Amino acid sequence: MSSRTPQPSAEHKQSLLIVDDEPASMRALCDTLEYEGYQTYGFTAPSEALAAMRERSFDLLLADLQMPGTNGIDLMKSAQLIDPTLVAVIMTGHGALETAIAAMKAGALDYIQKPIKLATTLPVLERALAVRQLRVEKKRLEANVRERTEELKIANRELEAFSYSVSHDLRAPLRAVSVFTQALLSDHTGHLNDEGRRLLQNVNAGAAHMDRLITDLLRLSQLNRQPLHKQPTRFGDLARKVIDDMAHERSGRQIEFVIADFPTWQVDQGLMQQVFVNLISNAIKFTRERDQARIEIGYRMDGSTLVCFVKDNGVGFNMKYMNKLFGVFQRLHSADQFEGTGVGLSIVRRIVERHGGKVWVDGQQDQGATFFFSLPDSPS
Ligand SMILES: Nc1ncnc2c1ncn2[C@@H]1O[C@H](COP(=O)(O)OP(=O)(O)OP(=O)(O)O)[C@@H](O)[C@H]1O
Ligand SMILES: [Mg+2]
Repeated sequence: MSSRTPQPSAEHKQSLLIVDDEPASMRALCDTLEYEGYQTYGFTAPSEALAAMRERSFDLLLADLQMPGTNGIDLMKSAQLIDPTLVAVIMTGHGALETAIAAMKAGALDYIQKPIKLATTLPVLERALAVRQLRVEKKRLEANVRERTEELKIANRELEAFSYSVSHDLRAPLRAVSVFTQALLSDHTGHLNDEGRRLLQNVNAGAAHMDRLITDLLRLSQLNRQPLHKQPTRFGDLARKVIDDMAHERSGRQIEFVIADFPTWQVDQGLMQQVFVNLISNAIKFTRERDQARIEIGYRMDGSTLVCFVKDNGVGFNMKYMNKLFGVFQRLHSADQFEGTGVGLSIVRRIVERHGGKVWVDGQQDQGATFFFSLPDSPS
């Protein structure tokens, strides 16, 4: 007795391509399996079976191993070139275990021995057809993924081209504003009173600020295009180099740096240095009001994920606004008090996310801030 689920309506019948050079056994097999609810298509010549495959698709190929002038394995290989999702079951002579194994090595899903017995054949066909269904589904999903990826690529390219050209095109009129206000300030200063000069200087400062914003926007959009070049990196060395390079920002300040002994991690060194530049420069900037600043650059392991942090004892911020911090041009402190364009942290986030990690923050008004970023396992 078979446990096979009955075939539903005619148009959903699964189609079997049956190839056997003996007309009588081919016909008998077709009739029996037709009776079992399959749609069968029988051929005695492999070339005709292949021709039929080019006309329509079949779910399963059931082919005799020994046929004059050819064999079931070659037929199966040719058939799978036409339809890679097709599943094949080979019919072998009794006791021909070796040839059956050879057929399976060549890509057949299973084999059945002649003389064909329905009780053993039906479960074999069912298993093979389940595999066929999986293959078809997989192919459909792969096509979907390819389509979505292509759409995303196009959208991304358009967005990048847009932000790049906006940034470039904004520059030209901005230059004009800057050049003409400077010309007014230097060549026509006699026509202006103090208030006029002050206003013009404001215009000039505004243009310079906007130029910085555009530069930052361009850098942000370039971050997406740049491929990652990962190499083993010692974060401690990176942090020390960044701090050395910031001698100017630190001049006249009392800052204690505490740097942990980091494990070596696979990252893009140039980009990771930018992460430290942005976080450490913030820490130096926002501890400006402390007589004794303390900046700690450390890490902890969270399973196989490296969690790094930069912690300071500066002015901190209200955690209510923590989601804003990593947005482009988002600032919580006034430009009068702390200079900046509000791009540093969005660059940090972009770089960390490109490495498969996350960023988050902890802080409190007047109690300092700690910026965290995670980097998943880095097999070297
Ligand atoms: N260590 C910190 N302590 C307190 N607030 C901080 C700290 N780091 C960042 N912030 C807050 O987050 C805002 C965004 O930081 P971000 O680095 O993106 O910009 P910025 O430092 O203002 O300017 P930029 O980095 O572009 O020069 C800052 O303006 C500040 O309000
Ligand atoms: Mg900053």
